[in-house]
Amino acid sequence: MLSYLHGYHAGNHADVIKHLVLLALLQQLRQKEKPFVVIDTHGGNGLYALDSPQARKTREAESGALPLWQHYKKYSAFKSPLLNDYLALITGFNPDASAAKPSIYPGSPAIAQSQLREHDRLTVMELHNSEVDQLRTNFHFDKRITIHHRDGFEGAVALSPPAPPMPRRGLVLIDPSYEIKTDYQRVAKTVKEIHRRWATSMIAVWYPMLGRTRDHSSSLIQTLKSLPDVRVMELVMGPQTEEFGMHGSGMLLINTPWQFGKIIDPAMQEAATCMSASYRVTVK
Ligand SMILES: C[S@@+](CC[C@H](N)C(=O)[O-])C[C@H]1O[C@@H](n2cnc3c(N)ncnc32)[C@H](O)[C@@H]1O
Repeated sequence: MLSYLHGYHAGNHADVIKHLVLLALLQQLRQKEKPFVVIDTHGGNGLYALDSPQARKTREAESGALPLWQHYKKYSAFKSPLLNDYLALITGFNPDASAAKPSIYPGSPAIAQSQLREHDRLTVMELHNSEVDQLRTNFHFDKRITIHHRDGFEGAVALSPPAPPMPRRGLVLIDPSYEIKTDYQRVAKTVKEIHRRWATSMIAVWYPMLGRTRDHSSSLIQTLKSLPDVRVMELVMGPQTEEFGMHGSGMLLINTPWQFGKIIDPAMQEAATCMSASYRVTVK
């Protein structure tokens, strides 16, 4: 039984690093005319109300997207073009662009959708019954998007490489909730299998940084480090403790585009400063 609902966490610090990296990778793919494919293995419902009872209970956006929104509204721009694009994207989903707080936060399917051109394709997988219903409601009108009520690990492997006429050009985002302990092993196995079948795919994995007793991120990184062009970036919100709580999170990339750091690092540094956090690149 799946109990995780992303509505409690939307717009938090983990979404900031995940979605900035996602947006930057999509922008790289758009640099060439050739179509691309995006596979989002764990889609959530795609669009989140930040004034919902769930979001109001945890108020996680207050240390994530909210300080970025407030800075953007006050100064009209960041130095990083990527960060400006991210805030412009969030603003586009909000009916009142001048509000003190955003009321809607876009999830990974909405961010991917925003970057699709007519000939690009997005497949989103989601296993939770009510989340997938909401996902369908949010995106059914878009013919470029296919939604599967399906296990994302199995689905991503089955869809790799993309079938003709789509080219073997694209990105797989793997963003589990890690509520099941075996998710770590499944991520590692899935990444290796996607890479074996579709060697040129960019693969982006999000992982949480947890308390000492529960943290599995270093072994995940060790397992995947030998794949080509691996880059690991982390946004750290505070010191690690013994407890379960998440003190930061990271993104691990495979087949990282050339000179990607020149785009993502200044954006993440600036975002981290604004969020009173710290950013580091641990593998490149
Ligand atoms: C962290 S949330 C996804 C958030 C989303 N990627 C975003 O950035 O907006 C993880 C989602 O994975 C779903 N999920 C959990 N196990 C799954 C599985 N094996 N296959 C597909 N979806 C799964 C959960 O229901 C949850 O909605």
